[in-house]
Amino acid sequence: MSDRYAVVGNPVAHSLSPLIHGLFAAATAQDIEYTKIECPLDGFEETVARFRAEGGRGLNVTVPFKLQALQMATRAHAAAREAGAANALRFSEGEIEAENFDGLALVRDLTRNLGTPLAGARVLLLGAGGAVRGALRPLLAERPASLVIVNRDIGKARQVVGELGHEPRARCCGYGELGAERFDVVVDGTSASLRGELPPIPATVFAPGATAYEMVYGKGLTPFLLLARQAGAVRLADGVGMLVEQAAEAFTWWRGVRPATAPVIERLAVPLT
Ligand code: ATR
Repeated sequence: MSDRYAVVGNPVAHSLSPLIHGLFAAATAQDIEYTKIECPLDGFEETVARFRAEGGRGLNVTVPFKLQALQMATRAHAAAREAGAANALRFSEGEIEAENFDGLALVRDLTRNLGTPLAGARVLLLGAGGAVRGALRPLLAERPASLVIVNRDIGKARQVVGELGHEPRARCCGYGELGAERFDVVVDGTSASLRGELPPIPATVFAPGATAYEMVYGKGLTPFLLLARQAGAVRLADGVGMLVEQAAEAFTWWRGVRPATAPVIERLAVPLT
């Protein structure tokens, strides 16, 4: 029988994870079955327990269960603890291990796939929710010159920066305080583009030659990416590369075999026009 994996979320119908893991499994000759589980909002623990009891080996976890996934782990790895959320679980005798590959995946996509150096860069992160929380430490580990978090609710941004402890390169502000400051890398980690909205950033935030990264994927040229293009950003990307890179990390963690990501990203990419 094939080893069983799944993505669990609500909603989960449009998840690309089964397709991505199916392509990885075919390319690496791994015998796995990967399905989607739409989990009732009040039934995460039971759903995970049932999947595990039936022989399931691992899960990807998506909205809104990432926090609960961390809470039910018997062993949480550093990235999951630091992000305060887990996006992957691995089951073995007596253990539920929790990991979070989202931040690492963002850094991989920026640096390796898009050729955007982060070392020495001025980085602006929009938002202070789960997506940004997971990205912070992996971004800082690349040693940017500065990392600014901007959010409408400044209290949330302060808390996220405060949790970093002593970190002189990181600070936060409200949108009105951005002024004329320019950034080499601007990452939209808000949920604004899910509703076709534009976070209230001035076009001047994009330094000449900037990279604009939209963590949401599959929405084409979002208002954020359109603003970036008009402002002269030279590299535009959505989160499809991040999605595929986090899947590859989970696959490697579960199977001990690293799949190639480039052909899968190419297959799933939606033109940004
Ligand atoms: P997630 O866990 O996916 O990051 P979240 O915790 O709901 O989701 O966070 C959503 C983020 O998008 C928040 O930072 C939110 O800003 P506020 O905390 O100020 O509400 C941000 N956001 C959503 N819509 C936005 C918009 N139109 N403009 C700017 N920020 C927006």
